[in-house]
Amino acid sequence: MSLVRAPDPSRASDPSRARKEAVAPCGLPLATGSNSAPRTERRRVGAAVRRCARRRLRVLVTAGPTREYIDPVRYISNDSSGTMGFALAAAALRRGHDVTLVHGPVTLRPVRGARAVAVVSASEMLRACRRAWRACDVLVMAAAVADYAPAHPSRTKVKQSRSQRMLELAPTVDILAALSAARRGGQKVIGFALEDRAPRRNAQEKLERKGLDAIVLNRPAAIGAARSRVEILERGGRWVALPMSSKAHVAARLVALIEKLCGGHEPVGSRPLPARPTETG
Ligand code: CTP
Repeated sequence: MSLVRAPDPSRASDPSRARKEAVAPCGLPLATGSNSAPRTERRRVGAAVRRCARRRLRVLVTAGPTREYIDPVRYISNDSSGTMGFALAAAALRRGHDVTLVHGPVTLRPVRGARAVAVVSASEMLRACRRAWRACDVLVMAAAVADYAPAHPSRTKVKQSRSQRMLELAPTVDILAALSAARRGGQKVIGFALEDRAPRRNAQEKLERKGLDAIVLNRPAAIGAARSRVEILERGGRWVALPMSSKAHVAARLVALIEKLCGGHEPVGSRPLPARPTETG
């Protein structure tokens, strides 16, 4: 494929004009001015063509914990900081994708450029995700959603008493499984699995039970940490273990996976992907 289409053969005798009017195959103007060095121009053409070749995906990312209130001041939750999901949103944006970030209560700085939806409980997260999912190509469910919520939350603060109390819990909806089951053709779904026993077997069971395209396995130590050691399994594929790395690094690898699942081609990019040499199967 030729990188630059000459606008009009009759003007080919005027190279500076031809350069100014050149367009990339996707229609992006590539004009650089008559003083541009040819190499600079070639680089600009290359960057523009790479941008065109990459499909802009609509990515739905979830992050952070959910809180399930017992009464107005007490809740059930977990230690998730949201770092992984926020890093994923930032990495997807850097690659030019459109990002909706549905997140539970976190103290992280907002990700500039992402459409953020702040929620508190699992049921709110479910509602926000359902609304966004219709218009997205891929879901990456990095949130640590509470599996149970108080069956009868109190509207007023529960008073202290010296007697034992029972707290009745009801299961929350599995958001990942629900959105996976409700997907339309072409939508891809990636889940996380937090496992401390038989990790690969349990994570693979989740991938199958929830109908996922890929699953990211991590350990309880990853919760709230800046770095993590994850393993990735694509449906029908083999486990790939990434070395212990920052969550930003893991996020960049996962965005490469998203692009592969959604585009059927290895990603091309303005930013180099992290190296793979120490990954193991
Ligand atoms: N998940 C979800 N909705 C829930 C619970 C979990 O969408 N109510 C998602 C998580 O975001 C994650 C995946 O399901 O992507 C697996 O979560 P995990 O906590 O590892 O496992 P669970 O499915 O909750 O099962 P268990 O706690 O028994 O391991």
